[in-house]
Parts: sequence; C-alpha cells; structure tokens
Amino acid sequence: MKIRDSGMPSETYWESLFDVPLILARFDVSRFRNVAELGCGYGTFSIPVAKAIGGSLYAYDVDPDMVARTRARSAGLPVVCQVRDVAASGFGVKVDAVLLFNILHGENPADLLRQAADALEDHGEALVIHWRYGETPRGPDLSIRPRPEQIIAWAGDAGLRPAGGVLDLPPWHYGLRFSRAT
Ligand SMILES: C[S@@+](CC[C@H](N)C(=O)[O-])C[C@H]1O[C@@H](n2cnc3c(N)ncnc32)[C@H](O)[C@@H]1O
Repeated sequence: MKIRDSGMPSETYWESLFDVPLILARFDVSRFRNVAELGCGYGTFSIPVAKAIGGSLYAYDVDPDMVARTRARSAGLPVVCQVRDVAASGFGVKVDAVLLFNILHGENPADLLRQAADALEDHGEALVIHWRYGETPRGPDLSIRPRPEQIIAWAGDAGLRPAGGVLDLPPWHYGLRFSRAT
C-alpha cells in the first residue's frame, strides 16, 4: 500500500527542492558499496548515489511509473529497479546503506526502519532525510510530519541508534544517520 501523502509533483519541481550534491556530500555516500533506496520516486537520489558508490543501487517503489522513470534514467549504471511495497514485504538484500528519503511520514514508519535495520550489514547505516518541521514549499502536513527526535525514537524501537547529530540539508531538509544498535 502506498503510504499516505506520498504522491509526487512534477519531476522538475520536485528536483528544484533539493541540493542533491550537498546531501550526498554530507552523508559521504561514496564510502558505501551496495545501497538500497526505499521509495525511490523519480530516482532523484538513486541515480547520483549509483554514480558515487562502488557497488549496486537497489531502487524500490510501489508506484510502477516511478520505477519506470528511475529505470529509464539508470541506463549503463549498476541499478536494480523493482516495483515493491517495501512496507509490507521488505526487500530481501543485504546492503551497506539504506536510504529512507522523504518517506517516514507514513502510517507505520517503524516498520520501514525495521526493514532497513534488517537489511544492513553489520557496519551499515540507515540514512534519513525529511522536510524540516515548519513552513516549506512542499512536504506532508505538519500533523504527520516527523521531527528529528520522533524519528530517532522510532529508529531506537527498530534497533537503530544515531550515528552523529542532526544534519542541516538546506534549503528545506534535515538528515539523520543510524547504525545497528547490536
Ligand atoms: C515523497 S516520495 C520520495 C521519493 C524519493 N525518496 C525522493 O526523496 O526523491 C515517496 C515515494 O515513496 C513511494 N512509496 C509510497 N509507499 C510506498 C511503499 N509502501 N513501498 C514502496 N514505495 C512507496 C511513493 O510512490 C513515492 O515515489
């Protein structure tokens, strides 16, 4: 099932809302080998991450149009795209990082974080970005928009602990890194 409030505006508008190189740099994504993105959308992050890493990028989305777009953009790159409801059925690969970008405002965010935790290699990290809590040009209603401390609490329940502080990802986002609590 598609999580609430996860419809997308036009690709051009969506991609005007992020500084993608800055976000990838602040997460230092090039240190990872294999990475999965849950809810890949247009591939806004999947494609540049695939170019930065040494292994494969696994891109999952429940919306076939989003998967088709990401697949079309990934020609010649080590990207595996799949239509999949990751909240219901996970994704069944082990990776060094899982991206949960703009997706933790759904009905069961802890389930997604648990899927991510289960998929991580021992040294792996779950990387989260979300809209700042406050006025932004887009983003879920504030009544369902998580603040960083809420995501940290859900992550703790899912067996993940913060690996560093809250990252500022201007213009509109913040970021969090988590490792397995083991
Ligand atoms: C707000 S968009 C974010 C896309 C991308 N992560 C980004 O930040 O550019 C959320 C995406 O999650 C997808 N999605 C929603 N529910 C899902 C589910 N249960 N399993 C997989 N993808 C889902 C939507 O189709 C949409 O493409």
